[in-house]
Amino acid sequence: MGKLEGKNAIVTGSSYGIGKAIAVLFAKAGASVVVNYSKSEEKALNVVSEITSIGSKAIAVKADVSKSIDVKNMVNTCVETFGTIDILVNNAGILAFGTIEEISDEFLEEVLAVNYKGTFYCCRETVPIMKKKRYGKIVNISSIAGQRGDHASAPCYGSSKGAMSVLTKSLARQLGPFGINVNAIAPHAIITPMMDYWDEKKRDQMKETIPIRRLGTPEDVAYTALFLVSDEASFITGQIINLNGGYLMDS
Ligand SMILES: NC(=O)c1ccc[n+]([C@@H]2O[C@H](COP(=O)([O-])OP(=O)(O)OC[C@H]3O[C@@H](n4cnc5c(N)ncnc54)[C@H](O)[C@@H]3O)[C@@H](O)[C@H]2O)c1
Repeated sequence: MGKLEGKNAIVTGSSYGIGKAIAVLFAKAGASVVVNYSKSEEKALNVVSEITSIGSKAIAVKADVSKSIDVKNMVNTCVETFGTIDILVNNAGILAFGTIEEISDEFLEEVLAVNYKGTFYCCRETVPIMKKKRYGKIVNISSIAGQRGDHASAPCYGSSKGAMSVLTKSLARQLGPFGINVNAIAPHAIITPMMDYWDEKKRDQMKETIPIRRLGTPEDVAYTALFLVSDEASFITGQIINLNGGYLMDS
């Protein structure tokens, strides 16, 4: 029997990248999964097929997490289909580049809306259900940029992720008494479509800065998320787990 047998999970932005790896690993562990996407329906349906072919349940649900009405509908669909929600992974995110002078009002709003408000909305919709059951696991996919500030990305990206990390701690305090664990993962240098802008030379340079001497994989993040949502991790809450091959060793 898998670790997550009988559990129902929503993984936002899970049609590709880190979210896909989390959705598939949770399904392998026995969970039923909502594969959320905002634009890439075909990819989301492929993830659903992959999950059903391994004997678990999944549905693809279109929702732009930056829109609270979409989030409400997604959570309702999860409850109508699977009966309840036990696990929420806030993974959907967008990266940003540029100096502060180059960031327009509209772009700032978009980055904060997807990375921070989306996480807030998803938590706001699922928490009442989890509170009633006195059981829930929330994992937020933050970033190293939210820990130490932006290096290559634009300053609005790191601050959106920093806000996500503080939200993680605030919710962990509020929800611990209700049996709900809230943690975040702060990855660095994970090879996904988000990192397509790195060419081979840049990737080799990055490896040299990482003590483990390799880049991360979506599965590295997925295994960490699986541990955090497992009952074995029930005494861990309010933590931001650095996942970076040793590149950053404090917060
Ligand atoms: N790849 C890395 O090195 C790295 C490092 C630190 C943090 N992260 C974070 O990990 C998460 C996943 O990143 P990734 O590397 O897989 O990126 P990615 O670009 O490959 O995937 C992002 C996912 O988010 C979805 N998404 C974007 N906007 C959305 C919206 N409005 N509503 C719903 N879904 C939306 C996309 O469709 C996609 O599935 C992001 O939050 C990212 O900030 C990634």
